[in-house]
Amino acid sequence: VNRREFLATAAATAFHSAWAAEPDQVWLGPDYWANPLQDWRLRGGRLECHVSGGDRNVFLLTRELSPRPGAFTMRVKVGRLGEIAGDGFAGFRIGIRGPFDDYRDSAVYGVGLNCGVTTDGRLFIGSVTQDAPRIAASEFELTLTGAGARLTLSAEGREVSREVAAIQGGVALVCHAGPLGDSPDPSLNVMTMSGIQRPDRERRGDVRFWFRDWTLDGPRVDAHPQRAWGPILFAQHSRSRGVMKMTAQMAPAAIRGPARLRVAGKTYEAGVDPLSRTATFRVTGWDDSRDHRYRIEFAGGSFEGTIRRDPKQKPRIVVGAVSCTNDLGFPHAEVPRSIAHFQPDLVAYTGDQIYERTASYGIERAPLERAALDYLRKWYLFGWTFRDLMRDTPSITIVDDHDVYHGNVWGAGGRKAEGAGQPGQDSGGYTQPAEWVNMVQRTQTSHLPDPVDPAPVDQGITVYFTEMLVGGVSFAILEDRKWKSAPKMTIPQARIVNGWAKNPDYVAARDGDVAGAQLLGERQMRFLDDWAKPRPEVWQRCAVSQTIFVNLATLPPPADTDAVTPKLPVQPVGGYAEGEMLVADHDSNGWPQSPRNAAVRALWKARALHIAGDQHLGSTIRYGVDDWNDCGWAVCVPAVSNLFPRRWYPPMTGKNPPKGGGRNTGEFVDGFGNKVTVHAVFNPQAVAHEPKIVHQRAPGFGIVEFDRAARTTTVTIWPRWEDPAKPGAKPVAGWPIVIGSDGTRRS
Ligand SMILES: [Fe+2]
Repeated sequence: VNRREFLATAAATAFHSAWAAEPDQVWLGPDYWANPLQDWRLRGGRLECHVSGGDRNVFLLTRELSPRPGAFTMRVKVGRLGEIAGDGFAGFRIGIRGPFDDYRDSAVYGVGLNCGVTTDGRLFIGSVTQDAPRIAASEFELTLTGAGARLTLSAEGREVSREVAAIQGGVALVCHAGPLGDSPDPSLNVMTMSGIQRPDRERRGDVRFWFRDWTLDGPRVDAHPQRAWGPILFAQHSRSRGVMKMTAQMAPAAIRGPARLRVAGKTYEAGVDPLSRTATFRVTGWDDSRDHRYRIEFAGGSFEGTIRRDPKQKPRIVVGAVSCTNDLGFPHAEVPRSIAHFQPDLVAYTGDQIYERTASYGIERAPLERAALDYLRKWYLFGWTFRDLMRDTPSITIVDDHDVYHGNVWGAGGRKAEGAGQPGQDSGGYTQPAEWVNMVQRTQTSHLPDPVDPAPVDQGITVYFTEMLVGGVSFAILEDRKWKSAPKMTIPQARIVNGWAKNPDYVAARDGDVAGAQLLGERQMRFLDDWAKPRPEVWQRCAVSQTIFVNLATLPPPADTDAVTPKLPVQPVGGYAEGEMLVADHDSNGWPQSPRNAAVRALWKARALHIAGDQHLGSTIRYGVDDWNDCGWAVCVPAVSNLFPRRWYPPMTGKNPPKGGGRNTGEFVDGFGNKVTVHAVFNPQAVAHEPKIVHQRAPGFGIVEFDRAARTTTVTIWPRWEDPAKPGAKPVAGWPIVIGSDGTRRS
């Protein structure tokens, strides 16, 4: 490389923030990921950290420091935002890397070396010393240079210098309130049983700084322009019965639109919702006989993909099924890659697309705008994982409890919960304001075909249950939480806490089936009745809901709570936990029994497979009502990322187990007295795949194939650790399961 080429390359990788030209807004621009989103903003051409707390930072997505020898220089202008009180610092973090070796993971969970100026004016690299050089200015330019292993930080003519080997990875701006410690601090970023811990992210102190003119250049700098993200972050679409709907998810930019969709030679416009930051396009008269490239444009950005033709001519319709995307293992890159291998015609995300503690920094439930941004930063992580799958594949996305910041949700027709937290949940309804719940539903479900019965429920909470037709397979998209009765209110003598009866004299199978208790509710039952009617364009039906209509779980006695679940020892491969008992968790849709039976019968009338998630326990079962096997089949897909590993170790043996089925397969009666035939279960096992903390909780996904000519349905559960593209790749033991159209198992 001659000198001229070298200089050209260096110029191409140089970075300069361009905030001066940007409007005042929450979103910082496509080059950045802010931790947390709602604590940063652009104001007057500079970046402001306007909430004081531990480890507020802005990660630069599009550049990183390479391990090559050579120099780099990073600069930024820094100033105090109001009065400063308490320990803390403002400055840089460099060499940022996350536990899963992906820039997205580095952006959210990475650890690096801090360099900056403390609130009492001391310059530091890594660790702060008492005799460090000090500056007094409230506004200064901070310069960090690296040459080989030598780092030098300077401001206001003072400097500190230090040898640090092997700096490599991302860079960020940091505004930190709290103890300074040393960095990198090995206590940070530890994966534990309850997820990834970042202990020092509490709100505290009065340490707020602004930043301007951030630059990074030099031969050590690598540019990754393809990592820029936004203002259009991702998009979901559906295509059914001549209507195409698409929802584009935007970053919280100031501009409200219109957003434009260019497709099939036409341009459509849609405004951006001020709370959900979504733009939804609805195109009628859709030509589904061919593929259409599309392009969304908004606020100077664009997003492209393909809406594929309706697979009417395909002999097999393939569905990917996903649930429970916690952030342990984020960005879960192998999951969308493995699902894409099967070239699905549709992907169903059956709930818990986010968890409350995703991406740390706690949970903000109010005020509304901050609570919306708090949800969006978690939802954005989901989109970051699945955006390439969603780009070209229709999706069904439905909302479960964690998506609305609940551990459990008994929607009770949309009522306002009495109080907050778990007591509020137990009272039935939603603890979050209706506007916020509708915002969540808009982000996840507004691209679905129009609701078949759109009247909102209590508080004006919207509904989305509907039908979607894909290649002659009709999907009933259900909301099995929204109308479900709250057991605490419906069976008061059971003394229900968080779904579990505290009264030892209450027997769920005997006493739980009380008059008036709802599961799907009248309106969805009417819909299912109509849906089951023969239609010439439909050759197969499939229902998608949050969870299965049975309680498939065991626990050690007395099993009057499931709080112990994350602490139970994981069995070795092939092991069996002895002495456990069947449970009666009223959050499961084994309760309430009579409407459960009616729902199971309605699905069987339609000869529909039921796809669901929520349980974190992959399973394939056949429902029974009056007798075993007198109704249809269900598949619960495993969690993508599992912090609550439920299990199935019944103490009795099942009758008539399937050929080759394990001890926990066959015909059982669940804790609510429901008949169920278990064909395969994906229990957590002590597998050797690293990181064990991810893989020993039975994570994975489901693939369902409907074969038109053979009239069979094949259900397969894949473990997260297996790459299905590799020769000899094996699904979880017990799968695939092939089911005939008459409900008998074929193999
Ligand atoms: Fe979940």
